Amino acid sequence: MSNIVYHLPDGTSSHIDVAPGQSVKDGSVNNNLVGIVAECGGNCSCGTCHVHLAKEYEGFFADVSDEEKEVLEFLDGVDDESRLACQLIVREFDINIHVRVADSR
Ligand code: FES
Repeated sequence: MSNIVYHLPDGTSSHIDVAPGQSVKDGSVNNNLVGIVAECGGNCSCGTCHVHLAKEYEGFFADVSDEEKEVLEFLDGVDDESRLACQLIVREFDINIHVRVADSR
């Protein structure tokens, strides 16, 4: 398990153990956290799983794909730390990974 710390739109934080192979989106949805809606179910097409991933953690995940870039272009509040949580696949990490969840409700 790897620990993902979700900093939520309501100002609270949740520490969630996410199994390797699951996505950061899965960890949120499976635990009913606020913010990540994931309307498309993780198919990189809706943009309702927008999170901000600090640069210090980007090396733990695959680079942004062209498909992900195209979805991000249409979202509000995008910055150079923006990612789609459904595309952030968790491996075994020995640190806590922090993500800031955009409010996509
Ligand atoms: S869940 Fe739809 S783009 Fe990530």
